Amino acid sequence: MSWFKREIAEGVTLVRILNTKLPRFENFWPIPNGTSYNFYVVEGSEGTALIDGADYRFSKEFFEALESVVKVEDLRYVITQHTEPDHSGTLAEVMRRAEEAVLLGTKQALSIGEALADFPMDRAREVKDGDEVSLGNKTLRFVLSPMVHWPDTMLTYLVEDSILFTCDLFGSHGASDKVFYDEAPDSFELVDYYASILMPYHAMAAKAVAKTRELSPKIVAPSHGALHREIEGLLSMYERWTSWKPLKKALIVVGSQYENTARAAEAAAEGLREVGLEIVIVDSAEADPDDLLAHTLEAAAILVATSTHNGHPFLGVTFYLDLLREYRPKNKVAAVLGSFGWGGGGTRAVKKELEALAIPVVDELTFKGRPKEGDLDRARELGRRLGEEALKLL
Ligand SMILES: Cc1cc2nc3c(=O)[nH]c(=O)nc-3n(C[C@H](O)[C@H](O)[C@H](O)COP(=O)(O)O)c2cc1C
Ligand SMILES: [Fe+2]
Ligand SMILES: [Fe+2]
Repeated sequence: MSWFKREIAEGVTLVRILNTKLPRFENFWPIPNGTSYNFYVVEGSEGTALIDGADYRFSKEFFEALESVVKVEDLRYVITQHTEPDHSGTLAEVMRRAEEAVLLGTKQALSIGEALADFPMDRAREVKDGDEVSLGNKTLRFVLSPMVHWPDTMLTYLVEDSILFTCDLFGSHGASDKVFYDEAPDSFELVDYYASILMPYHAMAAKAVAKTRELSPKIVAPSHGALHREIEGLLSMYERWTSWKPLKKALIVVGSQYENTARAAEAAAEGLREVGLEIVIVDSAEADPDDLLAHTLEAAAILVATSTHNGHPFLGVTFYLDLLREYRPKNKVAAVLGSFGWGGGGTRAVKKELEALAIPVVDELTFKGRPKEGDLDRARELGRRLGEEALKLL
C-alpha cells in the first residue's frame, strides 16, 4: 500500500501517501520507519478545496489518490499552507489541470512558491490572517503562523467541522496506516519531528500552539503523520517542548575510541542515577541526529564525554556541538569529561563551546590514558553534581 484515504468528517477526506522508499527526510534525517504526506480534500455545497500537495517524487501516487476523491478539474481552491517541496511539489501540475482553480497562500508562500514550485501567479491570491473563503456550507479560515518553520506558513481552520489543518506543526514521522495518534502512539515519532524541524522556531511554534488552544479544534490534522483528537494531551506536550521544560532525564553523548572515556562516562551515569535521573547514553559515532536532538530537548542534564582526537573533540562529538550551535537548546546544565594521551584539548574545547551557548558547565574532569579508580570516583561525583544541578531546573 502506498497511499490510503479516509473520510474524517462529512465531505472532508484525508489522503495519506506513505513514504517508505526514501531513507532520509529532507535528505538528512534518518526515517527507519518511513514518513508520510497528508493532504486533504474539503467538499462544500458550492465548491471543493485541496489543502496541500505532496513531494513531487510521489506525483504518481498523489494524482491517483486525488483523482479517486475528486475530479481535479473541478477544484475551486488549492490551498498552499507552506511551500517546502514536500507539500508544494505537486501543486503546479494540479493548477495546470484545474484551469478554474484559484491558488491561496500567504504573501510569502506565493513569493517562495513562484520560485520554488512554479506557481501560476495569474491565478494566485494572497490571504491574510483571519481571511475566510466559503465553499457554501463549509468555511475555511486562515490563521497565519509565520516561521513554523518557514516564513510562508499558515494553518487552515474548517469552521463548521472544527478541524484545524496545521501542515508541519504537530507533524510526525512513521509510515502508518492508522489515522489517529491515539490508535497507535508507538507508530508515530512526534518528538523527533518537533526536535529536528520545529525546535529552532520554538517561540513562533509556541504562538501557533496558543492559537490552537484558542480555537479548541475537535481534530488537529497535520500534513505529516498522525491526526489528533485528544487535543489536550497534544497541546500540553507541545507547550512543554516550546517552553523548554525538561524531564528528569540526562543525556550522555560519548565519543570514545578505546573505551577509556566511555568507562568514565559509565561511572558518571551511576552518579546521575543515584540522584534519580533517567539516563540515555548515545554513542556519538552512530547517533541518529534527530534522536540526539530529541533527547537534548527533553534532558535537564547533558554530559559530553570525549577523548582528544588530533587536538580536538572526537568527531562525533564535534558533530553534536554543530547540532547544538544550530538548535540552541535552553534550560540545561552540562558537564564534560574525557581522556587524553598527551596535550589534551578535547574537553576544554567542548566546555568553551557549551559556555558560548549559555549552557552552564557545572563540572569538568580530564584524565590521562585509562581511567584509574580515583578517576572513576571523580566521574561518579561529577555525575552526582550534574544531577543535583539538573534537579533544580525541574
Ligand atoms: C587518531 C588519534 C589522535 C589522537 N590525538 C590526540 C591529541 O591530539 N592529543 C591528545 O592528547 N591525545 C590524542 N590521542 C590520544 C587519545 O586521546 C587517548 O589515547 C585517549 O586515552 C583515548 O581515549 P578513548 O579510548 O576514550 O578514545 C589521539 C588518539 C588517536 C587514536
Ligand atoms: Fe516544512
Ligand atoms: Fe513538511
